[in-house]
Amino acid sequence: MGSSGVGRWASRRRRSRGFAIAGDATVGPVSEALARLESATEAALTDARLADDRARCDAIRPAMEALLLDPAPIPDSAREPLKGQAVGNVLHTDAHGRFHVMAVVFPEGTSSGVHHHGCWGVIGYLQGSDEETRYRPVADAGDRAELEETSRHTWHSGAVTYLLPADGDAGSERAGCWHRVRNPGPGIGVSVHVLCRTPSDHPHRFWDRTSHAVLPYPFVEATPGRWQAQVVGLD
Ligand SMILES: [Fe+2]
Repeated sequence: MGSSGVGRWASRRRRSRGFAIAGDATVGPVSEALARLESATEAALTDARLADDRARCDAIRPAMEALLLDPAPIPDSAREPLKGQAVGNVLHTDAHGRFHVMAVVFPEGTSSGVHHHGCWGVIGYLQGSDEETRYRPVADAGDRAELEETSRHTWHSGAVTYLLPADGDAGSERAGCWHRVRNPGPGIGVSVHVLCRTPSDHPHRFWDRTSHAVLPYPFVEATPGRWQAQVVGLD
């Protein structure tokens, strides 16, 4: 990534294992707006009246919208890239491992590559802009996939979107959401993600658009509280 301005969250990593680290470290103090987002997420996850992920995301949404309007919702340090590269700065990890909150930072011109989230998420756009392309799996055999672009939208500050299984996919092992995000600029893009599970357990896969191979794309803690997604096994 870096100077080329195109690529993944971080440098490629070949078949590395053994990095399942608990996400205890966080970046900076917790604001009241962030604490309310954490509480709203905990409440949504324990509310038996909420029937599915969409209903739970809808219940989390007002706290995310309030956070985006707050004058100081996250520490300034959480808005910083890592050595010029994209990074996820962890703001909170649920004590029961059900979810985490991270500030995802994309320097101008950088991209995530096409990837898949295997469970729910709520994303709020805090700073700058992000062009998001969504894909539908025409076929997903686990280690290979054929994807079809379904939408492309540029999000700006204040917008909220969800990561949810496609209609009809809920409950299947391929459930989740394929997308790519790219910061078209100007400036650094920062979005607040509430994502299922812990950073190290979050189901995350990468799609190589050349070979159509699907590869692990785990979050790896580069420095305390600061995580980068790294492709495993890309030649
Ligand atoms: Fe993503």
